[in-house]
Amino acid sequence: MASEMKMVKSVNAVVAVTVALLTCAPWCIYAQQHRLLVSMTIVRNASALGALCLDGSLPAYHIHRGFGAGAKNWLLQFEGGGWCNDIESCLDRAKTRRGSTRLMSKWEVFSGILSNDASLNPDFYNWNRVKLRYCDGASFAGDEVYENGTSLLYFRGQKIWEAIILDLLPKGLGQARKALLSGCSAGGLASFLHCDDFTKYVPSNASVKCLSDAGFFLDERDISLNHTMRSFYKDLVSLQGVEKNLDKNCTGSLPFPELCIFPQYALRFITPPFFILNSAYDVYQFHHGLVPPSADPHGHWNRCKLNPAACDPDQLDILQGFRRDMLVALALFYKYSGRGGMYINSCFAHCQSESQDTWFGVDSPRIHNKTIAEAVGDWYFSRRITNKEVDCAYPCDTTCHNLIPVNTSSGLVEDLRD
Ligand SMILES: *[C@@H]1O[C@H](CO)[C@@H](O)[C@H](O)[C@H]1NC(C)=O
Ligand SMILES: *[C@@H]1O[C@H](CO)[C@@H](O)[C@H](O)[C@H]1NC(C)=O
Ligand SMILES: *[C@@H]1O[C@H](CO)[C@@H](O)[C@H](O)[C@H]1NC(C)=O
Ligand SMILES: *[C@@H]1O[C@H](CO)[C@@H](O)[C@H](O)[C@H]1NC(C)=O
Ligand SMILES: *[C@@H]1O[C@H](CO)[C@@H](O)[C@H](O)[C@H]1NC(C)=O
Ligand SMILES: *[C@@H]1O[C@H](CO)[C@@H](O)[C@H](O)[C@H]1NC(C)=O
Repeated sequence: MASEMKMVKSVNAVVAVTVALLTCAPWCIYAQQHRLLVSMTIVRNASALGALCLDGSLPAYHIHRGFGAGAKNWLLQFEGGGWCNDIESCLDRAKTRRGSTRLMSKWEVFSGILSNDASLNPDFYNWNRVKLRYCDGASFAGDEVYENGTSLLYFRGQKIWEAIILDLLPKGLGQARKALLSGCSAGGLASFLHCDDFTKYVPSNASVKCLSDAGFFLDERDISLNHTMRSFYKDLVSLQGVEKNLDKNCTGSLPFPELCIFPQYALRFITPPFFILNSAYDVYQFHHGLVPPSADPHGHWNRCKLNPAACDPDQLDILQGFRRDMLVALALFYKYSGRGGMYINSCFAHCQSESQDTWFGVDSPRIHNKTIAEAVGDWYFSRRITNKEVDCAYPCDTTCHNLIPVNTSSGLVEDLRD
């Protein structure tokens, strides 16, 4: 960490060298590329709002200012990183960078949709871009405190969201002309949960839209027919006091209100235009929701999890079934959401907007020859009439990178990107 800070100072406040330098031998220096590193802003007065990370540390974000024609436009991006749904896992998490801003990197790389380079991020490069750090473990939506005499945990995600917004309003968000609320994974879920709410803070004549990347977590049974995701989220909602922050129209419409944490139930109640970016074989959902280790005790899926080409025909059938169910869950949105957009590709991936190689590059994934950056930009700026792209089923798409993470052993509480 210290060496990172030093290098940053010696180059420039924000534009610095690749993070790879930190972990490899001196020869690596020659491989350095320029990257945008943005420093952390702590929300100093957040405790007045009760907005604290799991361990009681202050919440934080990273902001890189917009310029030129984008100076009054704002992109807010929720950081992702799994959830914690019981006291033990939250206590563990509070001791890591996922539960404490004290333990987080103080500089973040802004790439993909956060890049400030027009050649890498053609539509949002000159906007104000903000990354909201994730330290509550419930997609910025909990509101509860746990205390039993020896342990203390803050489940204050909703307050953190509010405190960050209040901090940004006088910095220009309060005069925004255009805004996009975005996020990936647990942050992509946060984007669904806060999209409506967000409109209350920005001027009523501003254009507000929301994007979820890899946040369309499906209410799907696992291969042993258990409701793994449903029971995980049920525990999360009840532990962290999430229910009162879920969409009221949705919770009023379902016999089990906690199900409204699933985007497929809440989606029709979200008012601003929404863009859903997801892989139909999202590897996080595949590894943790569809085939969690508990449902595959003998590891029959281990090879298939690492390489889709190693899946046997029965396994492929199950994966195709998952894709079909995702498309069914999106069918009404596909058909009736006139201002909505979607990009459901068939790559084994998780989070495609934050990394440059999947967002916008010469060999980025494409559907109908369109990159994700182009699809999102066309939708945001209404450059086309239809903004819904659905890929053909695996293995037809040759543009995929099929980014299968190495670590498949971790539970739901651990994000695969780590
Ligand atoms: C509080 O909870 C923690 C974690 O479950 C446990 O280790 C500890 O013994 C509890 N303390 C009391 C006083 O019950
Ligand atoms: C915290 O300070 C910021 C400005 O620095 C202000 O906009 C915000 O309203 C304050 N929040 C609280 C809870 O006092
Ligand atoms: C919104 O209204 C304000 C005040 O009338 C005006 O200054 C601003 O330009 C408008 N913004 C947009 C996006 O039209
Ligand atoms: C949600 O409910 C409120 C009040 O009942 C209603 O005004 C609003 O239109 C509903 N929103 C949606 C998207 O259904
Ligand atoms: C299915 O869920 C039940 C109840 O939560 C649990 O007892 C059982 O071990 C689970 N089975 C598998 C294979 O995960
Ligand atoms: C695909 O798009 C690229 C530019 O992004 C263009 O150069 C190429 O000709 C297109 N290919 C087809 C088959 O349309």
